[in-house]
Amino acid sequence: MSNYASDYAASLFTLTDKRIIITGGAGALAGTMSEALVKAGAKVCLWGRGTHHPVDEAVRDLAERTGHPEACFGVTVDTGNEAEVQRAIAETEQAMGVPNILINAAGGNKGKSPFIELDTALFTEVLENNLLGGLVIPTKHIAAYWIHKKVAGSIINMTSMSSYIPLSGVWAYDAAKSAVLNLTIATANEFAPYGIRVNAIAPGFFVGNQNRLLLYKDESMTELTDRGKSIISRTPFGRFGQNEELIGTTIFLCSDKASGFITGVSIPVDGGFLVDNV
Ligand SMILES: NC(=O)c1ccc[n+]([C@@H]2O[C@H](COP(=O)([O-])OP(=O)(O)OC[C@H]3O[C@@H](n4cnc5c(N)ncnc54)[C@H](O)[C@@H]3O)[C@@H](O)[C@H]2O)c1
Repeated sequence: MSNYASDYAASLFTLTDKRIIITGGAGALAGTMSEALVKAGAKVCLWGRGTHHPVDEAVRDLAERTGHPEACFGVTVDTGNEAEVQRAIAETEQAMGVPNILINAAGGNKGKSPFIELDTALFTEVLENNLLGGLVIPTKHIAAYWIHKKVAGSIINMTSMSSYIPLSGVWAYDAAKSAVLNLTIATANEFAPYGIRVNAIAPGFFVGNQNRLLLYKDESMTELTDRGKSIISRTPFGRFGQNEELIGTTIFLCSDKASGFITGVSIPVDGGFLVDNV
């Protein structure tokens, strides 16, 4: 590519003015997204609970993968806890400066059952984790902080195929993710007067820690479950997504130059799952 063309493309998508919080930052999709964001010039602060994959380890991995330790930060926080989120915002600001993008990527499913065998305690846990920790609490506190500081920030939520079409047996996840889509639209409207954008990415089926054993029979990932087979047969592209296929949409939504007039949308990255028909 000639220099003028690559300079032009870079000017649309460079993220050197962005300081990005990514919740669930030690997760599978967040790992790929954060690497791309650092490579595109952003500073990135991973927020995670640190239960399975400690945040400082995830930050070290990110620094190694990108070669930019100066752009990689981390805070241990449960995004479902308001006081912890407030503390995390202050720690993030101290570490990398005022954040101007929030990617709500904490979440994930646990369990699967017929409706009449629902474990209501687990239902509440998954619903709260994906809705309150996955969107409501970080969004509430970051938006208040931005409005107070007059920062025209941008929020990216993680919706799902289950925001549009219920997935069988994962009742709380379905309920939470359809609400994440609804609140993406509602908060986009609420925050627009402050110049704050809210959008979402709706990944089709990507293999993450939270869904690996729904899609494959065991950790060796050699044999699909019936559910994994059914998903692939209903995905027009005939395969799961590769995590890297989320990068373009993530960078696009983070760049004000590329997507500054876009708010309240959820972009499916799904190999056609939502347009499959008979
Ligand atoms: N993998 C997929 O196919 C897929 C599809 C659609 C949507 N999503 C969504 O994308 C997001 C990331 O998914 P993933 O597949 O990378 O999952 P993952 O399990 O690999 O990562 C999720 C991370 O979130 C963290 N987390 C969960 N609750 C938290 C909390 N309260 N506080 C702090 N951290 C918390 C977990 O510890 C984990 O590190 C989730 O919201 C998921 O629902 C994933």
